[in-house]
Amino acid sequence: MRVLPVLLTVIPIPLFANIRGRAFFSADSTDGLLFILLLLVTILLVVAVSLKVRTSIMREKTDQPPARFNATTISEYISALSSRRIDAYLALKKKKQQEGGGTIKSLLLLVLTGGWFALPATAQQVDARPSSLLQETGIIITLILLLVPIVAGVILMAVKVSALIRRRNRERNEEEIMAFTEYLISPDDPIIEQALEQRRKALAYQLSNKELAGEKEAEDAKGLVGNINIHKGLSIVAQKQRARARPSIDPELSRLVMWYLGCAACWLVFGTTAGEYVGIKFVHPDVDHLSWLSFGRLRPVHTNAVFWGWASLGMLGLGHYVVPRVSNVPLASMKHAWWSLILINAAVVLGTISLMAGINNGGGEYREYIWPIQLLFGIGLVITLNNFIKTIAARTTKEIYISNWYIVAAIIFALVISVVAYVPFWQDGLGETIVQGYYMHQGVGMWFMMFTLGIVYYFLPQQLNRSIYSYSLGILAFWAQILFYTLIGTHHFVFSAIPWWLQTVAIVGSVGMIIPVAAGTTNFIMTFRGGWYKVSSSYTLPFFLVGIIFYFTGSLQGTAEAFRTTNLIWHFTDFTVAHSHLTMYGIVSFFLWAGIYAVVPRLSGKEAPQITVGAHFWLALIGLMFYTVPLMYGSTLRGIMWMQGKPFIDSVIMMAPYWLWRAIGGSLMWLSHLFFAYNLYKMILGDDTAEAKGPAIETLNQSYSEIETTL
Ligand code: HEM
Ligand code: HEM
Repeated sequence: MRVLPVLLTVIPIPLFANIRGRAFFSADSTDGLLFILLLLVTILLVVAVSLKVRTSIMREKTDQPPARFNATTISEYISALSSRRIDAYLALKKKKQQEGGGTIKSLLLLVLTGGWFALPATAQQVDARPSSLLQETGIIITLILLLVPIVAGVILMAVKVSALIRRRNRERNEEEIMAFTEYLISPDDPIIEQALEQRRKALAYQLSNKELAGEKEAEDAKGLVGNINIHKGLSIVAQKQRARARPSIDPELSRLVMWYLGCAACWLVFGTTAGEYVGIKFVHPDVDHLSWLSFGRLRPVHTNAVFWGWASLGMLGLGHYVVPRVSNVPLASMKHAWWSLILINAAVVLGTISLMAGINNGGGEYREYIWPIQLLFGIGLVITLNNFIKTIAARTTKEIYISNWYIVAAIIFALVISVVAYVPFWQDGLGETIVQGYYMHQGVGMWFMMFTLGIVYYFLPQQLNRSIYSYSLGILAFWAQILFYTLIGTHHFVFSAIPWWLQTVAIVGSVGMIIPVAAGTTNFIMTFRGGWYKVSSSYTLPFFLVGIIFYFTGSLQGTAEAFRTTNLIWHFTDFTVAHSHLTMYGIVSFFLWAGIYAVVPRLSGKEAPQITVGAHFWLALIGLMFYTVPLMYGSTLRGIMWMQGKPFIDSVIMMAPYWLWRAIGGSLMWLSHLFFAYNLYKMILGDDTAEAKGPAIETLNQSYSEIETTL
């Protein structure tokens, strides 16, 4: 299921599509020839480097002195022997003592050669980057003609050298085996025989299951054995580990964070109900004829509610937990945090009503709220920024933890872009379009992505109980994100009247984005190293994992969309909508859910039922796939139809089944949000009778420590 979107992301379909217009690759164009040339040079370099590596390994091995065996080095070899081989050896030894040597050596060779010490193969990937500025077709063809036999020759040579290396390795193995055999048949060495006997016994040892009580019934005066409950109920979902409540959290902060998250969940349910309804309208356009529910009004209701209501409040809620935690001080002002929550909620409520009433800021996407309403949101952010900076300034830690870098930068960027998007200077003409592109992508990249990454840098290591793989990689990703993301706004308007060079800058920046994305992904995945087994026993880690996978694939999909050739096909189609959901939903929402499931049980001491957390996860993931994959496929076909000059209405008819799939996927996603809301309710307000043991044990612990202090 997950392979398809990944493939669609990484394979630039239009490269192979037979379309009219500017195809990227065609064998008779200079581009095509250059491509072949670069390919040949790349192959050549890869083969050359691989040969170099392999021969140097072989040289290293040849330079090594032959293996020597003695009583200390032999233990490693012994542990690799099976009991069958030990038996065979000891039998041969006995025979030797009776017969006095001779053919023993060859027999021993037979016993020992089973490939049990095959030397590890070494592989190395090479990143060869050819560079050629030649543009002349004739010269390129000549070079290709020259290169073809050279490449073929080098490949042949590589094959031969590989065979030689393999043979040499085999010979070395045999030499080693010979040396080992010599050692084994050398005059009797009691130490080795003793070691072999010991090893044989160890291999033959089996538990009798009577170790503790022998034949007698176990004496269980303390009820240790009798207390074990082996009658487990039928398990429908895997048992996950319970979170531990954190006693040191200020209850006032807990209440604040839970309010933020509760409001966010309400906006998620509301916003996606609107999205679901809009999606249904693609299948049944005449479902209603009310102006307040028209497509044009409900679509921005959906996008703004999920942006400013769900994702923003969710992030801020988690941020209010993370910032004081990593600064090791209480939040600077609880009152300000409540004000910020009230203002942002007010902005979304008023914005939604005004949009449905037809009052909006014009066409600019994600800035449809009129300025007085967006101002409330802005003031909320200013208050939060001030609150966070004061908290960080009062920190008792020496360093500012990376999460705080990301969180504070995200709020600053959100404020800057909002001002740029709403000041009256650039509200007309091309300037407006450039500002729109800048606003839109800074919105998703510098507000949502930056903030969410800050949250992941805190919760992922915490949930895995290990430190982040590389702090420096986090810093690199941070600055690279600032460098490239701020340049890529105009990739939304490729082929528009915006200056060509500015579009090119945006495309180059979109490629540059690979650096922070690869750095971030590597950092997160490497943090999992050695802890993968924890994924199956945790219900937050699968959410993180999905977020990381989509962070990589969804972002690279964005890079693929930015090229002129691909944008020619995908722009104006639903491919962009699929990308928006793969990223805003697959990355941002999944990371937020992961953080929420990690933090709320710590604050409230209550858990959500595991079965409904599972239902939330799987419905959201499967729904997202149903939503996006058909849209990506149908949109590619649609773009090609447009380029072939087919009538527009034909492409609408062709899209019908894909829109149906989107509605089905959307319904599953929507259902998953109901489960999420229920889970949050259970985690915040649910009864915790199941946890009755917890307080009882705590009371016991307390009385125990009291007794200890009196003593
Ligand atoms: C039940 C879940 C959801 C459904 C059914 C849904 C449905 C839709 C629909 C039908 C559209 C309009 C597409 C168009 O104009 O062709 C849309 C747009 C959009 N939705 Fe959702 N959505 C859902 C969840 C979300 C969430 C959780 C987010 C963000 C956190 C989100 C972000 C967006 C964005 C950014 C757009 C604009 C897309 C663009 O212009 O490229 N959606 N959604
Ligand atoms: C390497 C990173 C990324 C690149 C290069 C990239 C590139 C693009 C491009 C080229 C488009 C415009 C497609 C078109 O209109 O033809 C686009 C749209 C969009 N992207 Fe990304 N993207 C990236 C990451 C993200 C992330 C992380 C998010 C969300 C968190 C995101 C959210 C969106 C949204 C919501 C749109 C739709 C904007 C609209 O309404 O037109 N993208 N992206």
